Amino acid sequence: MRLLKADITKLEVDAIVNAANGALSGGGGVDGAIHRAAGPELLAECRTLGRCPPGEVRVTQGYRLPARLVFHAVGPVWRGGEAGETDQLAACYRHCMELAREHGVRSIAFPAISCGIYGFPAEKAAPIALGIVAEMLPESGVEDAIFVMFDPGIERAYERAFVNTQPN
Ligand code: APR
Repeated sequence: MRLLKADITKLEVDAIVNAANGALSGGGGVDGAIHRAAGPELLAECRTLGRCPPGEVRVTQGYRLPARLVFHAVGPVWRGGEAGETDQLAACYRHCMELAREHGVRSIAFPAISCGIYGFPAEKAAPIALGIVAEMLPESGVEDAIFVMFDPGIERAYERAFVNTQPN
């Protein structure tokens, strides 16, 4: 498990995770970057999948991306923390790790789901993301789990949380 400063659309991994919206319709942020890099076939496949509720994940091909698969995770919109946001964010990471096992994914890259436009505080999201992935890693078949750091504020929160997930 590692943190990496990178553009997720450039990574040669088995699967990248997208921070999608419930309509799987593309958008700004990392979602926009992934759709631009993958090409229009990605949106065409997304349109066949219907809506995806917060906490759930849908799988597509990667098309023109170097990644084979895209896991479209719909994170929660932050509403102050009393509306189930933490459970929904945890469910995103848990479902991604389950799908990784089902699809034989050995390398996977995550953006900071919900920490941009959806406003989830990074210092709260980082321990959830790192904790769930660390816990599920041994059973998942994943050998390389990458957390992509695109924003300095988010990177600081992940660095602090990362220390706590490492064995002594
Ligand atoms: N590679 C890696 N990370 C990126 C990239 C990129 N190319 N571009 C942006 N990010 C980072 C942002 O810096 C942020 O830390 O992804 C993180 C998630 O931010 P958003 O993309 O805003 O995702 P989110 O907060 O989950 O909001 C989802 O935004 O684009 C729309 O359709 C999407 O409505 C949905 C909403």
